[in-house]
Amino acid sequence: MTKLTGDIMAFDLKCYLAEQKAVVDEALDRYLPPISGLESKVVEAARYSLFAGGKRIRPILCMAAHDAVSGSSDALLPVACALEMIHTYSLIHDDLPAMDDDNYRRGKPTNHKVFGEGVAILAGDLLLTYAFELMASAAPSVENPTMLLNVMRIIAEAAGFRGMIGGQMIDLECENRKVDLSTVEEMHRKKTGALLTASVKVGALLGGADGDELKRFEDYGYHFGLAFQITDDLLDIVGNFKEMGKKPGSDLEKNKMTYPALLGVDGSREAAEMHVKKAVEAISPYGDTAEPLKAIAEYLLQRRG
Ligand code: IPE
Ligand code: IPE
Ligand code: MG
Ligand code: MG
Ligand code: MG
Repeated sequence: MTKLTGDIMAFDLKCYLAEQKAVVDEALDRYLPPISGLESKVVEAARYSLFAGGKRIRPILCMAAHDAVSGSSDALLPVACALEMIHTYSLIHDDLPAMDDDNYRRGKPTNHKVFGEGVAILAGDLLLTYAFELMASAAPSVENPTMLLNVMRIIAEAAGFRGMIGGQMIDLECENRKVDLSTVEEMHRKKTGALLTASVKVGALLGGADGDELKRFEDYGYHFGLAFQITDDLLDIVGNFKEMGKKPGSDLEKNKMTYPALLGVDGSREAAEMHVKKAVEAISPYGDTAEPLKAIAEYLLQRRG
């Protein structure tokens, strides 16, 4: 994860992300193997989306926050993978004709295009429920099962009506409607920011952070989450299919309320820069151990996928 550049050690984000993604991919494959029987198709559909090529940002943030506080929890990998399962479920449902009606995701036809709407809905349900089964199954191997329970509560809240589901609902309500910036910010904070914040927070919590320390990771997640969805909105305008793996122009087509719709492309870029700066500031006391968190936040401003 570090590479020699001349005589100084520079942090190599590309290499770090590839290494961490490989860890997550291997674990996901182990946790959700294919099955036989009449119900096999739903697992096949869940695996189709799970292994379609996601960036694994949420589990990687979770592991990076855990490393930032030098943690060593046995529940880290199941929790990190559960976050990716919940995220993948949200994408399968987000793409359905009744929601954003998108045909491509992660460079491939969307789940319902391949398996049909019924199976796609069930594959999403499977990933959401299995995420919690997976986390609960880690209880016997952890020192502090009460803390694991708290982690699961934080994730459930972030994925639920006070977080992602609430944000997705606001997103639907805002289609074809002009709303103010604070409503768009609330939507972004909930639909995307909540699960990203939870990812960082539970990683730090499992690693032993509490009180003010935990607050720093929450602040990082809050600003990271907003910057992430603002750059997602920007990519919908300036990005391309090859790099994003999903079709640009979807927000305009559905008349979605986005940052660029309110602030324009330049104003949105400035907002994203401000949030990245604040995310980095929040974890600045950690120095070297938080280098990955810092680099991932800064990468948001250059991301093309
Ligand atoms: C896309 O998330 C959906 C949003 C929350 C904006 P990602 O950009 O993390 O998608 P994958 O997991 O890499 O496909
Ligand atoms: C999706 O937001 C957020 C969730 C899935 C919770 P978007 O609808 O903007 O995501 P993309 O652009 O389809 O990936
Ligand atoms: Mg959507
Ligand atoms: Mg969408
Ligand atoms: Mg989008």
